[in-house]
Amino acid sequence: MRVGRVIVSSFAYRGTMMASTDNLRLALLAWYDKHARVLPWRVQPALRALGMAPEPYRVWLSEIMLQQTTITTVKPYFETFLLAFPTIADLAQAPLEHVLTYWAGLGYYARGRNLHACAIAIDGVGAFPTHPEALMALSGIGPYTAAAIASIAFDYPVVPVDGNVERVLSRLLHIDAVLPAAKPIFRAAASQFADSHRPGDFSQALMDLGSVVCTPRKPRCQECPWASSCLAYQAQDAETYPRKAAKKIRPNRYGAAFVHINDDGVLAARRKDSGLLGGMLEVPGSEWTDQPKSESEALAFAPIQDAPWQLASPIEHIFTHFHLHLDVYVAHSQRPDNAHRVAISALKDAGFPSVMMKAIKSALMASDLKM
Ligand code: ADE
Repeated sequence: MRVGRVIVSSFAYRGTMMASTDNLRLALLAWYDKHARVLPWRVQPALRALGMAPEPYRVWLSEIMLQQTTITTVKPYFETFLLAFPTIADLAQAPLEHVLTYWAGLGYYARGRNLHACAIAIDGVGAFPTHPEALMALSGIGPYTAAAIASIAFDYPVVPVDGNVERVLSRLLHIDAVLPAAKPIFRAAASQFADSHRPGDFSQALMDLGSVVCTPRKPRCQECPWASSCLAYQAQDAETYPRKAAKKIRPNRYGAAFVHINDDGVLAARRKDSGLLGGMLEVPGSEWTDQPKSESEALAFAPIQDAPWQLASPIEHIFTHFHLHLDVYVAHSQRPDNAHRVAISALKDAGFPSVMMKAIKSALMASDLKM
């Protein structure tokens, strides 16, 4: 198969024969045996060699948590989540709202909802699917996650391809095809490395190589087990790979958040189940639009019209598809009401998503209050 200027099947490049995929695999696995990162969901290679297999539930949970989130962020959530839901049956039987409380802060709440739906489906069947195609039929599992779970949990011979793996392959093979359009080319290149010898360790080795050695900037080529075969290393142009189309600029959106505080706490509501931050807690707010709002336009959205609203510091939050700017208004009242309120001491653990926590913190700071 031709991939740009690289012929992947024989690993010939402009007449230069590269190491075979077998030799590349073995070199990477030997490196992994020495340098595998210790991660809470991982069975280290020495134990894996003795027959200890990772628990599919832990592998699946880690992969869902790691979708668009860093390992450093995920680690504490992973441990806490497993304490709350030690088995997939515990997770399946828990109310969605309870599960989302543990997800708050990881962002992308659709993932939390999908996780719960997926747990119910798996618990219903009584076993995890082991084949990537079957895994992909479950909520929230795309081609990368399916390949990661199938290889790591079940030693299925498949190679997961994410941004890290694309970077490694683009450099190793000098693939000039431009991402994201070239994704099929990268999947084809990766599939050359699929093999039944230690597939789970190979996937994790590739992930570690991409995260620790073959980094976007200043790659540590001296430490790379593939350096002697790497075309970008030979050409000293690794940092220029992968080739990417110019990024679209995130559009700005603007809105207002209203933090109303009385002795019972902060006025809160639950968002509708579908859409962005679906099912999560929020403080009342305006719609989010393309144009900033004047104070009078914003105050028309205030949940209590006659409250003494004051401006606190504005906050910003980056969502996948837009950059949100929120003006934060705060008001205090002595009057009790029957509205849904979250006590100030309970705010931290109530399950507000990050953007709402930012607005609440801004309001508390303006009021000289602490959580
Ligand atoms: N990134 C995504 N999944 C991972 C895993 N299982 N190990 C290390 N990094 C990862």
